[in-house]
Amino acid sequence: MSQNIAIDGPAGAGKSTIAKIVSKKLGFIYVDTGAMYRAMALFMIRNNIDGNDEQAIGEMSQKADITIRHENGEQVVFLNGENVNSLIRTEEVSAMASKSSVVPRLREKLVSLQQKLASEEDVVMDGRDIGTVVLPNADLKIFLTASVKVRALRRYKEQTQRGEACDLKSIEEEIAKRDYRDMHRETSPLKQAEDSVMVDSSDMTIDEVADKIISLFNK
Ligand code: DC
Repeated sequence: MSQNIAIDGPAGAGKSTIAKIVSKKLGFIYVDTGAMYRAMALFMIRNNIDGNDEQAIGEMSQKADITIRHENGEQVVFLNGENVNSLIRTEEVSAMASKSSVVPRLREKLVSLQQKLASEEDVVMDGRDIGTVVLPNADLKIFLTASVKVRALRRYKEQTQRGEACDLKSIEEEIAKRDYRDMHRETSPLKQAEDSVMVDSSDMTIDEVADKIISLFNK
């Protein structure tokens, strides 16, 4: 039987950074489910689908073949055979992903892919509904969070480092809006699984968070 760790939480809590470190230390594969929703969103944008048209999104999602592979420890996402890793981190894709990921038919498709991966390999999987829907029997479930202020500041620093012009206040508003949408949607809203451990990373370093998760897993 494969071993699975589920890490859920809001955007910007540091899930992917932490999940990558934990998976490396344990020799597990890291599965970034947000990247799959982003690849779906890119497909919608390319096909000029309206982000509010759930019917069209549901139908179009059936035409997208999303697969992932791991190359040099990095997850690579393929959309109908094309490596789209470098195209899915834009604000446009983020905004569309937040909308298109509410559509049940689209989610069902990605959830089965995620469940298949986790049954075949030891994985650390991060997302919004991993502990609640995708892997309800995960060996360890973490709900990783941080205050809106701290998350906005982290994103602001990342973007500034990349040389992108940005504004802290609007990043903060954007994060709060996305949280609200992720937490209030009908299908698989972001919520803490009852049997998960809440970790608030606001005042913790990356290594402290990773060490805490590994020690919880070893227990
Ligand atoms: O974690 P992220 O920012 O890459 O996620 C992109 C979008 O996909 C975000 O709006 C939430 C959504 N998502 C989801 O609904 N379920 C998941 N398991 C992962 C991401």
